[in-house]
Amino acid sequence: MAYETILLERKGAVAVIWLNRPEKLNAMNARLKEEVAHALGELEKDETARVVVITGVGDKAFVAGADINEFAGKTPVDQWTAYGHTSLYNVVDRFPKPIVAMINGYCLGGGCELAMACDIRIGSDRAQLGQPEINIGIIPGGGGSQRLPRLVGLGKAMELILTGDRIPATEALRIGLLDAVVPHAELEARTLELAEKIAAKSPVAVRLAKAAVKASANMPLDQGLRYEQSLFSVVFSTEDKEEGVKAFQEKRPAQWKGR
Ligand code: COA
Repeated sequence: MAYETILLERKGAVAVIWLNRPEKLNAMNARLKEEVAHALGELEKDETARVVVITGVGDKAFVAGADINEFAGKTPVDQWTAYGHTSLYNVVDRFPKPIVAMINGYCLGGGCELAMACDIRIGSDRAQLGQPEINIGIIPGGGGSQRLPRLVGLGKAMELILTGDRIPATEALRIGLLDAVVPHAELEARTLELAEKIAAKSPVAVRLAKAAVKASANMPLDQGLRYEQSLFSVVFSTEDKEEGVKAFQEKRPAQWKGR
């Protein structure tokens, strides 16, 4: 697929997806969503890609939301069909490798929902986050009403969704919507540092760890604990487990095989 609205960059084991509609503050139209989903499909198959970073081109925006212009005249059936199985939010949510959202500016509506479907959110100190859908007479439709309360609690999520207010990065960090805030000029370096650190671990252990943590959002505690035990048992089948233990005993860095 020839990409028109994204750029795909490789930095060693880290793949960076740049959302590339800066003149529209990277608002997500159907084409952009399709391209990101396609790129993730390719990166899932690519064993050399260990961690994905998603960010926006330009200095102003991560994503200023779904492309509002596509809402005009859209019917309920159009919208229902657009969700389908390939809805970008689902693709990101189910992606087996870690995805870090590098939030370089406005992170609004569908942009905030995209970031919340990612695993870790690093924000520039210039970032502003929010769910402003209410201001145009609609509601979040990319998971905002479900993921936001899980991250920040019911009251704060309700306040953000019902007022449509934007909050600065420091406030987003305080309530748990961002996991770190860094000076704008250091955002890329600090995010890549984190991504590279994760990419250097055993890829099979990283996948299983991610699956276990994700399960905590979807399962009751007793089932989640049992699921963790299953994955913990599965990890004992890997060569990387033997290598990790041996490397510890021999006081040397482990050489991961990814199996
Ligand atoms: N969908 C489509 N286009 C968008 C957009 C969106 N969600 N957000 C911004 N744009 C476009 C603007 O229409 C403008 O295009 P134009 O130059 O062709 O007129 C361009 O991006 C720049 O935006 P502008 O509003 O001029 O920038 P600003 O710095 O004055 O304001 C925002 C920035 C983010 C406050 C403002 O663009 C905004 O409120 N955007 C909508 C946010 C939103 O409601 N998102 C949720 C949608 S469900």
